[in-house]
Parts: sequence; structure tokens; C-alpha cells
Amino acid sequence: MLFIWVLMGSGQDADNWSICYEMADPSKKLLTLKAGTARQHKRKRPKRKRLPQKELAAMAVEASARLAAFGVLNDIINKNMVTDAALTKNKMFASLESRDRAFARLLVTSCLRRYGQVQKMIDHCLSKPVDQAINLILHLGLVQLFFLSTTPHAATNTSVELAKQLNHDRASGLINAILRRAIREYDDMLGLTSVMDNLPAPLKTIWTKQYGPDQTSAIMDLLMTTPPLDLTVKPDADRAKLAQHLSGLHIQHHTLRCSFDGDIRKMPHYDEGLWWVQDAAAALCGTLAGAKPGRVIFDLCAAPGGKTAQLAAAGASVTAVDSDAHRLTRLKANLDRLKLLADILHADILSAEFDKFATAAQPDVILLDAPCSATGTIRRRPDILVRNNRLDLNALQAVQHDMLEAALRWVRPDGFVIYATCSMQSEEGEEIVRAVTSDRLAKLDKFSKAELGLFAPALSVEGWARVLPTCLNYAKLPDAAAASDYASGNDGFFIARLRPVAS
Ligand SMILES: C[S@@+](CC[C@H](N)C(=O)[O-])C[C@H]1O[C@@H](n2cnc3c(N)ncnc32)[C@H](O)[C@@H]1O
Repeated sequence: MLFIWVLMGSGQDADNWSICYEMADPSKKLLTLKAGTARQHKRKRPKRKRLPQKELAAMAVEASARLAAFGVLNDIINKNMVTDAALTKNKMFASLESRDRAFARLLVTSCLRRYGQVQKMIDHCLSKPVDQAINLILHLGLVQLFFLSTTPHAATNTSVELAKQLNHDRASGLINAILRRAIREYDDMLGLTSVMDNLPAPLKTIWTKQYGPDQTSAIMDLLMTTPPLDLTVKPDADRAKLAQHLSGLHIQHHTLRCSFDGDIRKMPHYDEGLWWVQDAAAALCGTLAGAKPGRVIFDLCAAPGGKTAQLAAAGASVTAVDSDAHRLTRLKANLDRLKLLADILHADILSAEFDKFATAAQPDVILLDAPCSATGTIRRRPDILVRNNRLDLNALQAVQHDMLEAALRWVRPDGFVIYATCSMQSEEGEEIVRAVTSDRLAKLDKFSKAELGLFAPALSVEGWARVLPTCLNYAKLPDAAAASDYASGNDGFFIARLRPVAS
């Protein structure tokens, strides 16, 4: 039997990994600096001065935050781990005080977001590439100098210290020299790069063609910033009270936007299960599934369950299906905390067994949140920016097409399928929908502006929603002043509603 009903306990994922750093190889030859080409002394060279005791103490506390950030970044960049997994795995990160943990996280995300720009600066200063670890120490130092509010002294001294902590004493001279040069040639070095350098080449080509250079540049500006924390609140919860207790702004439907950055389990009403974390655009997909009591909905590719919770909270009879047992454990834990019910099925939806099961079940609605390149979620997952420069969507496209084709067979003849991907790539959105409609497997059921609410600008002439990350732009809203304390923007999504065509 290929699929099983899952009975799982709740709780957080076990964290039984140990920290692992690439240690220095003392036999590695250090490389020479390229001669400075930029105008010298444009910025006054800071005078060497003794650091005040307060600053020294702060640097000592933050040393472990920088060490933890180095370990996490090393796992992401050199070992291909995704950000959340690398943070969870890192014991040192977990043991930091909350203030230092926030700083370490900021260092990690800033290095990932600004990777292209900072690497360009490093390449400008060096004649040959350096050891991976030294390169990372330089990233950490330069990102603080150029993009965070760290003082030039602290950025330099802590980078040299970090090299020593990691047994790269021999590189400390080189690191010191590059940081000092960056301080001297600050404006010229910054002028060498632009925000577009952070976008991998294939995405730059495609986005510029698809969305135009101005929109792409606006998206990139947004992706350099920390995203807001969006919460979906239960429909029967007191929204005004929650907005007050959580210092949130009501966006639309059941989304509250907060600016909290820390352990969400410590936020008000977490244990009561009145809300869960979900981006406003992701919540739109759930809303468009039209959940209501008595409606039978299959949530395919459901884990970790943000949309399942939304459908169940609206009273629908939900079957949540996913092929990843570990992610389903999280889905079950989330539903338990929220005191919501859904049937949970561990299955490959492209298997013959699931086909038989779904054909017999004939749900009223299918929500298919298909696996994708996730390029719409870069602001939350900036590691996507440092993945290798290849973007091979062929395999994903084949899976997405097969899943949508099957979903259209399984849904009731008078029902509908919501097809969604958190991708910016038309290959995973528009092209998939065009394929099934031109093969006469489905008819597009156009969204109306009213259904999309604040996301109305995403409505295409065809009738699907192409939600760009810049869509929720508060500056354009009438109550912009009220919203000015909250970050703008949202995850990028493609969403379409399709009705099956009788064969
Ligand atoms: C975009 S994520 C889903 C996010 C989820 N809908 C939510 O709102 O929390 C895609 C999911 O598809 C699942 N998946 C990928 N291939 C699958 C398959 N063949 N059958 C079932 N699930 C699959 C992955 O395990 C992953 O959890």
C-alpha cells in the first residue's frame, strides 16, 4: 500500500544536530590584494582610537552571534542547506540570547540578500578567489559596513577577531586590509554595484523580460528588506482585540500584519491557537478556495498546512495530502495547536493508489498548491539568491502539469480547482494553465477585482492573479499613514481558478 493515514504526535522537530565549521587549512597560501583603483581618501580615514568599554563589551557579546552566523551561512552557501534548516541545526544559534539571536539572523539574511553586491566588491579587491571561509568572513564584515549600521571600527575589528576564532589567523591581515580599504573607498566601492547584482543571472533575464526593468528593480529593492510577519486569525476570533494585543494591522479577510521579529511562540494568544503565520498572498489562495460548512475540499500538497488551517477554520471538510511525512508532522502539530480538524493523508498524489482514491471521492473543490521553484518567497528565503545559477524548470513543469491535469479529473464536474504556485516564473503559472485550457481539459473561471480585494492589481486580462511581491504597496493606499509603521509587500504568487470540461 503506497499511502497511509497518518497518526502523529504533536511537538517541535527534534534538534539533534551538532555544529560543524569548515576549519582553516593553514597550508593555504594567502592571496595578494589588487591595487586600489578607486579614488583615494574620498572619505576621511577614521582615526585609530581606543574603543569605549561599552562598545568593547557589546562586541564580546556579539562575537558568538557572528560565529553562529558564520556557521549558518557556511551550511547554506557551501553545503546547500535551506535557511530554516541551517538555523535549526545550529546549536550555537539556538543558545544565543534573544537579542543576539536576532542579530545573528539579521547577519545571515543580510549576507544572503546582498551576496551578489558584496561578492563583486570582494572580487574588485582581490586578484584571485580566496578560501571559502575567508570569503565568508569578508561577506560578514562588508555587509555590516555597507548595509547594516555597524560602525567601521566594529565591522573591521570583529571580522579580524572572527578570523582568529576560526583559526584563520594568517588571513587576518588580508581581512583587515580589505575592510580598511572599503572604509577609505566607501562611495566608490558602493558605486560599483547595484541591487540588481543580487539577482542570479537567469532570474534577471527572465524577470526583466516578463515584468520590465523598473518593476524588477522595485521588486529587488523590496527583497532587500525584512518581511513583515503576517498572521491569519481564526474567523471566530475577536479581530479587533487580537490586532490590539498583537500590535497588528488588519490587512484584509483574516490577515493581521505585525512587525514582530523573534520567537513567535512568545506572542500573545499563541497557546490558545487563535492565529497562525501565513503571508497575506498565501492566505488569498485559501480564501479563493471558498471554504464553507458542508463543502468537501482536498488540499493537495498541503504541508505545513497554512491553507489547510484556513479551510478547516471556515468549516469545510478537509483532506490534507502531502508526500513528505516530516512536513505532515508539522501540519498535524499546527492543527492540534489551533484545535482544528482535517483528515491527513500521507500520499504521493501522482501514484495509482491515490488516483483511485481521489477518483472515487470526487471532492467539491481541490486546492493544488503545487511544488515549485519558490521564487516568489525570496524575501523570506533569501538563500534562493545564492543557489547555483541554473534554473531548470522542466522537471517541475512536468510535475505541475500532471498534478493539475489529474486534479481536474478528480474534482466534481460542477466543482473547481484552485491552482497556485509561489513562483514568479510564467513556466510554473501562466504556461501550465494555458496548456490545460488549450487542451480543453479546463475552462478558466475568471477572478473578479472584488474577490482579490487589495490584490486587485494582480488581476490579469485573462482572469488569473499574477501577484507580484510589490502588490501590497501601502504608499498607494488611502490609509497609507496608518500603515506606515509596517513593511509593504507580500510573497509572489500565481493563482488561477479552473473548472473541468466534460470529456
Ligand atoms: C508549496 S509547498 C505546500 C505549502 C502548503 N500548501 C501550505 O500552505 O502550507 C508544496 C508541497 O508539495 C508537496 N509535494 C511535492 N510533491 C508531491 C507529491 N507528488 N504528492 C504529494 N505532495 C507533494 C511537498 O512535500 C510540499 O509540502
